Amino acid sequence: MLKFDALSKSYGQGAARMQALRGVSAEINAGEMVALCGPSGSGKSTLLNLLGLLDTPDQGQIYLQGRQVPTDITALTELRCHLLGFIFQRYNLLPVLTAQENVEYPLALLGVAKAKRSAQAAAMLEAVGLSHVATHKPDQLSGGQQQRVAIARALVKRPPLVIADEPTANLDGETAEQIIELMQQLGRDANTTFLIASHDPRLYQRCDRVLTLKDGCLSQFQPQLRSAS
Ligand SMILES: Nc1ncnc2c1ncn2[C@@H]1O[C@H](COP(=O)(O)OP(=O)(O)OP(=O)(O)O)[C@@H](O)[C@H]1O
Ligand SMILES: [Mg+2]
Repeated sequence: MLKFDALSKSYGQGAARMQALRGVSAEINAGEMVALCGPSGSGKSTLLNLLGLLDTPDQGQIYLQGRQVPTDITALTELRCHLLGFIFQRYNLLPVLTAQENVEYPLALLGVAKAKRSAQAAAMLEAVGLSHVATHKPDQLSGGQQQRVAIARALVKRPPLVIADEPTANLDGETAEQIIELMQQLGRDANTTFLIASHDPRLYQRCDRVLTLKDGCLSQFQPQLRSAS
């Protein structure tokens, strides 16, 4: 589903140059749920932004469904629209849109008719427990609620690949569990592949594998983790 090979990325120039990723490679199969862990500043968001086609590597290749991703911006945007759901570390909701409209937005980009996208977005908001605040704008929602809207927005088009940057960081324990379970349920139904950066050990236990980043280097995969439950 997703493969990346020798990805490098640096920020800044000259003496201020900072090597955030140092040639990282891995392969993730369709339907796998993989956690990405590592200390703050280890390069997790940098890697997810590259794999989410939001930024381009200095070196290395990314393959999605067996094909190397294009360099052309229009083709990249098209691919991102169809294949990818992205959950940002800081939600990135559109402030002028209501919760419902935020969740509908990716469907509108795909050309889904109004009535259909309205129904699908409402169902997804219900699944994350937010029907009662569907008409609220992001600044009227708590951090946890905004994160759940962001999760609903990423999952509503049922993308084959979901990339999530700390999706449960702002949620209380119980809500975090529900969200992880919801993501897994969707994963089972649609064979969705998940790559999730997280500091949350509860999430690691539910994942098939954990990748560890340290100082821009990926370490060996850990053995199977997903519990039998
Ligand atoms: N836009 C940027 N400009 C300059 N340096 C950056 C930029 N983004 C990230 N960095 C640096 O790159 C390194 C990796 O950052 P990154 O955000 O990928 O880490 P992270 O593992 O996601 O951390 P956290 O757990 O705090 O989210 C850090 O040293 C960071 O300061
Ligand atoms: Mg980060």
